[in-house]
Amino acid sequence: MSKKNKTRICIIGMPGSGKSTIGSLLSEKLKYRFIDLDNEIEINTGLKIKEIFKDMGEDSFRKIETDTLNKLIHKDRIVISTGGGTIIKNEEILKKSYNILLNCKLNELVKRASRNKNRPLLSSNVESKMKDLFIERKELYNKIADLKIEASTNITETIADILSSLENDY
Ligand code: S3P
Repeated sequence: MSKKNKTRICIIGMPGSGKSTIGSLLSEKLKYRFIDLDNEIEINTGLKIKEIFKDMGEDSFRKIETDTLNKLIHKDRIVISTGGGTIIKNEEILKKSYNILLNCKLNELVKRASRNKNRPLLSSNVESKMKDLFIERKELYNKIADLKIEASTNITETIADILSSLENDY
């Protein structure tokens, strides 16, 4: 059971797990503000995520990601959909939020990511790279998560699951 305040929620999980869609719908249900972290980075820098990776490298992206999250994490009544790798450098910051992990089957992640060409870490060999990211990160996702939700199938069910779990986790 988590004693964390649930008015500051971060959605965490692998690329393709549905963080942006679920986060946005959840924020509507809760009447909280919604921020998509990657989108916020793109607005602040005036660059697309893939341009940041290409021109400045992953380390610079991670620094911008941390700065951006740091600015948002003190706000209240907010749902933040993080990027798949946000957990890597931000374990401390994420102690300040209630973190919902979206678990999704690997084949579903691969299917979804194959349709999207905007992920620099998954621009080719999607299946094997996704598997590597999953193996590298799964322990950290689970450690940081305050709530774990199965999100491989239906969005409506996923939202309903989150809302009832939030009500029951006190
Ligand atoms: C990343 C995931 C992306 C984005 C960046 C890095 C990652 O977000 O932040 O390309 O390290 O897994 P999504 O999880 O929304 O694809």
